[in-house]
Amino acid sequence: MPRVHFERENRTVQARVGENLWRLARKHDIKLSSGLRKWLHCRGRGFCGGCRVRIDGDAAATNERWTWEELRFADTDVRLACQCEVRGDLKVTTQP
Ligand code: FES
Repeated sequence: MPRVHFERENRTVQARVGENLWRLARKHDIKLSSGLRKWLHCRGRGFCGGCRVRIDGDAAATNERWTWEELRFADTDVRLACQCEVRGDLKVTTQP
């Protein structure tokens, strides 16, 4: 089982292979957004950007970015948690 370490919260949780990172964070009560974005978000549809996270680790430990993510976060290690599948061990920084 992959292990996901949330740097800012200093918590490590286990995930199922293919588990959605946004859902995993919510399941473990890890906040991905602050302020109004806690309530005003697209509920994991990939449009609002409120679930941005920085991912450290092997690129193969997640699925590939989809087009919108690629355009928006080119040349960075930022992902939308709601569009990210856990496939291996990850280090995640919330609210980068
Ligand atoms: S929750 Fe809106 S982009 Fe992820």
